Amino acid sequence: MTNSKVHDKFNRPLQDLRISVTDRCNFRCTYCMPKEIFGKDFTFLPKEHLLSFEEIEKLAKAFTKLGVSKIRLTGGEPLLRKDLPTLIEKLSAIEGIEDIALTTNGVHLVKQAKALKAAGLQRINVSLDALDEETFKAINDRGVSPEWVLKGIDAGFEAGLQVKVNMVVKKGMNDKDILPMAAYFKEKGITLRFIEFMDVGTSNGWNFSSVITKKEILEKLATEFDIEPVEQNYFGEVAKRYRYKGTNTEVGFITSVSESFCASCTRARIAADGKFYTCLFATNGFDLKELVRNTNDDDVIYERIQSIWQKRTDRYSDQRTEETVKNRDKIEMSYIGG
Ligand code: GTP
Ligand code: 5AD
Ligand code: SF4
Ligand code: SF4
Repeated sequence: MTNSKVHDKFNRPLQDLRISVTDRCNFRCTYCMPKEIFGKDFTFLPKEHLLSFEEIEKLAKAFTKLGVSKIRLTGGEPLLRKDLPTLIEKLSAIEGIEDIALTTNGVHLVKQAKALKAAGLQRINVSLDALDEETFKAINDRGVSPEWVLKGIDAGFEAGLQVKVNMVVKKGMNDKDILPMAAYFKEKGITLRFIEFMDVGTSNGWNFSSVITKKEILEKLATEFDIEPVEQNYFGEVAKRYRYKGTNTEVGFITSVSESFCASCTRARIAADGKFYTCLFATNGFDLKELVRNTNDDDVIYERIQSIWQKRTDRYSDQRTEETVKNRDKIEMSYIGG
C-alpha cells in the first residue's frame, strides 16, 4: 500500500473523513428528524449492522493512506454510542491523523467531556439553535432546555476541547434568536456558525423560502456589531469566517444554499452501517462493511476507496434547483451525519 493523495474528477483531494457512529438521536429536531417520521415505528439500524470500532479503525487507516488527516465523528448523536473514548483512542493512534473532532448536540458532554479529551479528541462542534427556552424546546421536540446544552459547552471548554457552536437558521423558527446568540457567544469568546437550512433528506419539508441567507444574517448582525472578514484557514474550509472587530472572536456562515462550496469539497462520509457516500446529498452509498468484514487485505480496501473517489463528480449544492430538491431520494442527515 502506498501513501498518496487521491483526487476526484474535478481534481478535489480527499482530505476529511466524517464517520457516523450511530443513526439514533435523543433529540427530534424539526429540521432533521421530525418526530412524525422518526417516531416509535421508525426502524433504526440494528446493532449488528453497525461498524465495530475495529472495523472503523481499519477503514480510517485506509483513508489515511489516501490523504485523510482529519476525522470527524458524527451521528445521529455520536455520544449515544457506547464507549466512544475507546474509538477515539484507536483513531488518535493512527499515523497521519492530525485532527479528531466531534459534532454533538452537547447534552452528554457534562458527563463525557473529560474522558473524550483524555482519549485524544481535540475539537467539538455543538449544535444549539436558540437561547430562548420555548423556541429551543419546540425545535428539539424533547423538551430539552438550552441550559443543558450551555452546560455541555462549558464542560467541553473546561476539559480543554476547542469549541464551536452551530446554529441552523430557519425562517419563522429561530430568526429572532440570531442577535441574542451572537451576543452570548461573542461575550464567551466562542465561535458561532450560522448554518443555512438545507434540503438534506426528504423529510424536513424544505423549500427555498424557508432559508435565511448569510447576506440576511450579516445585515442583521451589522445592526449591533462591527465585523470584518477573516482569511480562509485551509483549502476546503466549509465556513466563511468573520471577526468581531477589535477581538479575536469569530463568527462564521455555512452557506450551502446561497454560496455553494462544492468546488472545494474534500469530504468523504461513512454512515454507521459502513456505507461510503461522496456527497451529503447522495442517493446511493458504496458498501464498505462487507468488504471490511470479509478481507484482511488492506490493499483491497485502499484500492476500493481510491477507485470510488477517483470517479466522484458530486456537486449537488452547485446544481440545486426546485427540481433537484423534489425529485431526488436523498439520504437523511441523521443517518449520514451532516
Ligand atoms: P470544521 O470546520 O472542521 O470545524 O467542521 P465542519 O463545519 O465541517 O463540521 P460540522 O459537523 O460542524 O458541520 C457544520 C455544518 O456544515 C453542517 O450543517 C453540515 O451539514 C455542513 N456541512 C459540512 N460539510 C458539508 C459539505 O460538504 N456540504 C454541505 N453542503 N454541507 C456541509
Ligand atoms: N440544514 C442544515 N444543517 C443541518 N443540521 C441538521 N440538519 C440540518 C439541515 N437540514 C446541522 C446540525 C449539526 C450539523 C451536523 O448539521 O444542527 O450542527
Ligand atoms: Fe438534532 Fe443533531 Fe439529533 Fe439531528 S442529529 S435531531 S440535528 S441533535
Ligand atoms: Fe460536497 Fe455534496 Fe456538499 Fe457539494 S453538496 S459541498 S459535493 S457534500
